[in-house]
Amino acid sequence: MGSLFLLLVLLLLSPSSPRGGSARRRRSARSHGPGGSSPAPSETSALFWVLISPEFKAVPPGGSVWLNCSSSCPQPEGSSLHTELRRGETLSGPRWVSYQLLDVRAWSSDVHCFVTCAGETRGATARITAYKQPRSVILEPPVLAGGEYTLRCHVTHVFPVGFLVVTLRRGGQVIYSESLKRFTSLHLANVTLTYALSVRPGDFGQPVTCHARLNLDGLVVLSSSAPMTLPVFAWSPASKALAFTSIAALVGILLVMGILCMHKYLLIQSQR
Ligand SMILES: *[C@@H]1O[C@H](CO)[C@@H](O)[C@H](O)[C@H]1NC(C)=O
Ligand SMILES: *[C@@H]1O[C@H](CO)[C@@H](O)[C@H](O)[C@H]1NC(C)=O
Repeated sequence: MGSLFLLLVLLLLSPSSPRGGSARRRRSARSHGPGGSSPAPSETSALFWVLISPEFKAVPPGGSVWLNCSSSCPQPEGSSLHTELRRGETLSGPRWVSYQLLDVRAWSSDVHCFVTCAGETRGATARITAYKQPRSVILEPPVLAGGEYTLRCHVTHVFPVGFLVVTLRRGGQVIYSESLKRFTSLHLANVTLTYALSVRPGDFGQPVTCHARLNLDGLVVLSSSAPMTLPVFAWSPASKALAFTSIAALVGILLVMGILCMHKYLLIQSQR
């Protein structure tokens, strides 16, 4: 009794891969004049700017994005892009280069673009985040048995599951909250949280809700279930005893992730 345990089922395990990617790396682009010349920026090139657009973009996992790197340099000597993401096509014009990045799966990646003008190199950084808001958050009607309500919440088609927190609330109060940060899969996931709530007299008729929160480095994505009402309990001495002896919170997390599921999702996306 009183035990808290987790049941974990992983189907279609994804290939292990490093988490996150290059989220925190930052390169500074500074010119180094040849042979220790004066550091004072006296040339006109010192005033040129480099811009990357958009600077922040969230895409569905596996999606692609175009980044436009432009500058005020009349005659750029070169421009380059530093990224761990897969490159696609490149388009260019007089003072800009547009880069396509494909198959974005790292939840956060910094992309740096550099332009060299009159011997000086300057850069700009964009951040690309891959996430997928849950398609649905569904709380099943609570089932009452043996002095406990069983609460079961399904969060479907969510990414990245490692940044998901699932919370159950009774009225406005948090009953239970679980972070799934130990799961580093790079695939869409279905998550089922099962929680056993001991019956208390005051709970009858109270609304219960389930909330899924993706917390992506400043971008917070919230989804909630429709409220369910805790059913009325017929009190008998036996059930009362049961209710108060079993203060156990029984929790289970069932996680189903799939490459298949991901492919299906991408297929649907591409048909839109
Ligand atoms: C990139 O940005 C430049 C400067 O804003 C603009 O002139 C150009 O049309 C853009 N290119 C693409 C492909 O969007
Ligand atoms: C996830 O749940 C959705 C909706 O219930 C279902 O269609 C899909 O097959 C599930 N995916 C996996 C990998 O179980």
